[in-house]
Amino acid sequence: MRPIKPQHSPPRWSDYLPFIRRVSLFLGFGLLLYALASAAAPAQAAPGHFQEDKTSNDFCLACHQEKGLTLTLGAESLPVTINPVAFGLSVHNEEEVACVDCHTEISDYPHPEVKETSARAFSLSFAESCKECHEDQYEVAPDSVHAQALNEDKENAPLCTSCHNPHTQGRLIGKESGELTISARIHVPETCAQCHLEKYDAYKDSVHGKALTEEGNLDVPSCTNCHGVHNIEDPTTPLFRNTSPALCADCHDDPAIMDKYDISTDVYETYVADFHGTNVKLFSEQFPDGETNKAVCFDCHGVHDIANVDDPVKGAALRANLLERCQRCHPDATENFPGAWLGHRLASPTHQPIAYYVNLFYKIFIPAVIGGMLFFVITDIYRRRVNRAKGAKKA
Ligand code: HEC
Ligand code: HEC
Ligand code: HEC
Ligand code: HEC
Ligand code: HEC
Ligand code: HEC
Ligand code: HEC
Ligand code: HEC
Ligand code: HEC
Repeated sequence: MRPIKPQHSPPRWSDYLPFIRRVSLFLGFGLLLYALASAAAPAQAAPGHFQEDKTSNDFCLACHQEKGLTLTLGAESLPVTINPVAFGLSVHNEEEVACVDCHTEISDYPHPEVKETSARAFSLSFAESCKECHEDQYEVAPDSVHAQALNEDKENAPLCTSCHNPHTQGRLIGKESGELTISARIHVPETCAQCHLEKYDAYKDSVHGKALTEEGNLDVPSCTNCHGVHNIEDPTTPLFRNTSPALCADCHDDPAIMDKYDISTDVYETYVADFHGTNVKLFSEQFPDGETNKAVCFDCHGVHDIANVDDPVKGAALRANLLERCQRCHPDATENFPGAWLGHRLASPTHQPIAYYVNLFYKIFIPAVIGGMLFFVITDIYRRRVNRAKGAKKA
């Protein structure tokens, strides 16, 4: 009779298959297939992409599609089952990259002994294995935050395979379009979520993240629009902060995107016209990586948790929410303080009339003064010439 097992015990059936029988079965089956594969190879003469006469995927998959198969690495055990359907649909299979093109050490069974004693060490031993075919992604930024984390031996520093399972990876770049496919874009944040769950959780509830993850809206930024992919820089540097308003403006300045949502495209212009923005812009033009303490867009709106401006909990349009943001830098600010900010709409006779008329005044006053001066100077020169000519005639 089967013993009753607690729910969280390891997969049931593997407990009942005596290990020795299994391995010998696989061995026998594998050897048989191997013999068949070798015999069939000349006849098939499949135009191997990278290796002549390579061991067929079927040979490897005959054993590796078996569920519950594991590799023991020290105290850990790593599942070594490969789903043949998922592999069949992968970009590598589509491009005829075979098992043995990546697993160059393995051509039959038993395999060469594995020396690594943890799953992490095993993964690390493959760190360079994509280079032969994807050199660009290695070269793009040796000093990126992830490359640095890897150099510092951080436990969860991402390897290529952390973000791209080589056995299931689908096509990311459309063959025809040459651009990131729609489905690839939608799934980017999940890739990052493996390790940055807190940021992902904030993002997926934000006005940007909700639109992408719930509606598949591609007008909004995913993690990689703001951070890059293989070249991610430290986003907490002064340089990143100083250039962040331009990053937002990439989209928020563009009527082709914003008109669809009835969102003002004056937000950048008005920011730069305002006290904080003028300072940040002028300052960062002179000292691109100098530290600035003036507000940038995300000080008022948040970063990963950006909300609709009229959102009752986080919206910047609500005075109480905004006051809390001002107070981070203006600790003495009181209830009326947010009113000191002119807002994003360009001044008009009805909105910020004083600013509007002061602006208008200058628009008329400055040309009038300069024009007047020019008129004065020109007529003065003319008069002198005329006088000089008269003087010469007299003499
Ligand atoms: C006869 C069954 C069998 C065949 C055929 C087989 N494997 Fe394995 N493979 C295993 C088993 C069982 C393990 C688990 C560790 C062990 O017992 O060696 C394993 C482990 C692995 C591992 C992880 C450990 C290591 O050695 O790196 C890789 C990678 C691997 N196999 C790739 C392949 C490839 C590629 C092929 C085809 C060329 C292949 N296998 C063919 C049974 C097989
Ligand atoms: C594009 C390269 C590539 C191809 C093609 C490929 N592998 Fe792998 N495989 C890897 C890498 C890299 C790892 C190490 C993954 C890790 O642990 O980080 C790996 C790991 C494995 C493992 C250990 C368990 C695991 O998932 O980590 C097995 C077993 C394995 N591969 C079998 C196969 C078989 C069978 C095929 C063909 C059906 C195949 N591989 C095709 C690159 C590849
Ligand atoms: C932190 C996750 C992450 C790591 C680590 C990573 N990638 Fe990527 N990779 C992505 C994402 C996400 C995309 C989709 C492109 C985008 O969002 O612009 C991508 C795109 C790609 C592409 C498609 C072409 C391109 O450059 O856009 C290739 C090829 C690729 N990666 C290979 C690699 C290789 C090889 C490594 C290891 C050196 C690697 N990746 C490391 C996340 C990662
Ligand atoms: C033997 C050559 C080879 C090796 C090794 C290899 N790949 Fe690929 N990979 C390809 C080919 C060919 C494509 C098809 C698209 C292309 O040309 O970039 C591809 C496509 C990809 C894509 C999708 C890119 C796109 O443009 O849609 C990713 C991501 C990727 N590989 C990741 C990896 C990772 C991670 C590794 C290492 C574990 C790896 N590859 C190892 C040959 C290889
Ligand atoms: C396998 C885990 C892993 C994945 C997946 C991953 N990261 Fe990271 N990331 C790290 C580690 C480790 C660091 C180094 C800093 C640390 O120790 O937290 C880091 C650092 C960063 C930093 C800099 C943080 C700082 O404080 O300096 C950014 C930005 C970042 N990652 C963005 C991304 C994005 C975007 C993606 C998805 C495309 C992604 N990461 C996927 C592990 C990961
Ligand atoms: C609209 C642009 C934007 C998007 C989208 C975005 N980020 Fe960020 N991210 C930033 C900015 C700006 C900072 C710097 C914030 C700061 O200095 O406080 C940052 C900071 C970070 C950091 C470092 C934070 C720290 O406190 O050390 C990580 C990690 C990170 N982002 C990951 C992600 C991930 C993962 C996603 C997707 C789920 C994502 N980001 C989406 C703009 C963005
Ligand atoms: C000093 C705080 C502050 C700064 C800095 C700031 N905003 Fe705003 N933002 C607000 C407030 C308050 C509102 C809501 C009231 C309004 O529209 O004036 C708002 C509204 C918006 C809206 C919605 C407009 C609409 O038509 O509904 C967008 C988009 C926006 N801001 C983006 C930005 C961008 C991009 C930047 C940087 C270039 C930025 N904000 C800088 C406080 C700020
Ligand atoms: C890739 C383009 C893109 C980038 C980059 C971007 N946004 Fe957006 N943003 C959008 C789109 C599109 C919407 C409208 C989404 C919707 O309503 O479904 C939006 C909405 C918003 C809203 C809500 C406006 C409202 O209706 O209340 C704010 C606030 C905002 N963004 C601020 C920012 C800030 C701050 C940054 C920079 C840190 C930024 N955005 C970067 C595309 C972008
Ligand atoms: C990231 C920090 C930061 C945030 C957030 C911030 N400010 Fe400022 N602000 C500054 C700095 C620094 C100055 C320079 C003057 C100073 O030293 O007080 C300044 C100056 C000002 C000035 C003009 C100079 C003065 O003191 O009279 C006004 C008005 C102002 N802020 C309003 C606001 C309002 C309203 C908010 C909230 C919506 C806000 N600020 C949020 C950093 C910030």
